[in-house]
Amino acid sequence: MLHCHEMEFLPPAPDPPLSRPGLIKLLITLKRNPLECWSADFFEEPIARVRLPFTEAFLVHDPGAIRRVLMDNSRNYRKDPIQRRVLSSGLSDGLLSVEGERWEIQRRTIAPIFAYRTVASFAPAMLKAANELVTKWKRIAPDTTVDIAAEMALLTLNVLALTIFSDGIGGDLDDFRSAMNAYFSVVGRIGMLDLLGVPQSVPRPGYRRLRRTMAYFEQVIDTIVDTRRERLARHAGDNVPNDLLTLLLQSMDPSTGRRLGLREVRSNILTFLSAGHETTANALAWSIFLLSQVPEWRCRVEEEAARELADASDGLADRLVVTKAVVEEALRLYPPIAALSRAAIGADILGDTMISPRSLIVIAPYVLHRHRRLWSNPDAFDPARFLPGARSEIPRFAYLPFGIGPRTCIGASFALQEATIMLALLTHNFEMRLLPDAKVWPMQRVTLRPANGLPMLLRQRTAHGTEDCDELRLNATS
Ligand code: HEM
Repeated sequence: MLHCHEMEFLPPAPDPPLSRPGLIKLLITLKRNPLECWSADFFEEPIARVRLPFTEAFLVHDPGAIRRVLMDNSRNYRKDPIQRRVLSSGLSDGLLSVEGERWEIQRRTIAPIFAYRTVASFAPAMLKAANELVTKWKRIAPDTTVDIAAEMALLTLNVLALTIFSDGIGGDLDDFRSAMNAYFSVVGRIGMLDLLGVPQSVPRPGYRRLRRTMAYFEQVIDTIVDTRRERLARHAGDNVPNDLLTLLLQSMDPSTGRRLGLREVRSNILTFLSAGHETTANALAWSIFLLSQVPEWRCRVEEEAARELADASDGLADRLVVTKAVVEEALRLYPPIAALSRAAIGADILGDTMISPRSLIVIAPYVLHRHRRLWSNPDAFDPARFLPGARSEIPRFAYLPFGIGPRTCIGASFALQEATIMLALLTHNFEMRLLPDAKVWPMQRVTLRPANGLPMLLRQRTAHGTEDCDELRLNATS
């Protein structure tokens, strides 16, 4: 067993400016990288107020107030236009975007598909996607540079393709991937028009292209859905893959017995693809980067992976406790969804702050996870915070990579299982070393991603482990 040295690694992050930027600077910085807007006071204040041209915003990072907004009084807060546009453009009938009764019906219909046991049954598909990547990387000459961020985006898309349509998409996966990229490049930016509150009826740049991309998705998905429906009708469920598509087509509102309509099925497939693709890819990319910087933790993950991967049976992800702690710490330092926002419907009181109707509420996991009042040594990488025992000390509303309350991420256990298995398998098979002149920097677009990708040198590991781990082990015992 290796022991972690008392070495502190402070991963790259913007230094919070000491004072808040003026409106023009705020708008420019928001366009460049919203992460650089957070001034030092936000990391210290429980609730901070910001005046915007047409509304008032409250930055809420007090656990009690977060509990009220996202849970106890969540009916008073709806997803605001900025969040809806960034996270769910074109997916207007999917779980991420619907509101009110439509959301309630969809959520209770879809929830069983993401229950623990069902997610566990996707582990073989996840391992299959991982092994395909391992095979691909093994063919690459030693010390070739690859962009790990781009590779992880392909990997998580493959996982979704395999778990949603386990018998393939029927067409060209590369076309589908380029369409996904085109989609993200349009919806990724928080536009000036949104920030200034210009109505959604005014077209945003790139929307014509977005409509074309959406039409392509609709056509591909509708063909797959039709074929699957026919198979289900013909075979009454026998010999039909038990993937997310079948589960979605068979899912039923427990209160009324109603099934989802074609539009809802299509929108939710697109929702899973877009909500689960870049988010999980970034969680993995940041985990790999962090491990590459701290050999003590990389060696612990290597050791655990060598032990646990030998038995890929049920519960693998639960046995990978150190690996999962690394993923959770990466999600703390670089939460893929860096900020959540809501619009207040009626007036409310948060702590002793009066909230007027239509105010914008921002809860930024990026700020919350580095908040000076809630975390010790908040900017340092320390997965030990998430090891069993220590984990229960973390206040429930201080760590929200997946949000919380009724609209919490439905794919949280899917994503955690996937990232944990992938990280273990890739670390087990490869040394991944950051290119010495790489400039790693977090940037918030749709998700919090490495601004310049993650160029790393790949080398296949030998069966005996990495030499520096042996050295560390010797030092730890001497
Ligand atoms: C590390 C990966 C992921 C992160 C960090 C993440 C984060 C989040 C967050 C923060 C929310 C809540 C947004 C809010 O309250 O405004 C959310 C919602 C959602 N996520 Fe995820 N997510 C991840 C992976 C996934 C995956 C893999 C799927 C599906 C396959 C998924 C599907 C959804 C859906 C459908 C919602 C909307 C739930 C609702 O409104 O009822 N996510 N996610």
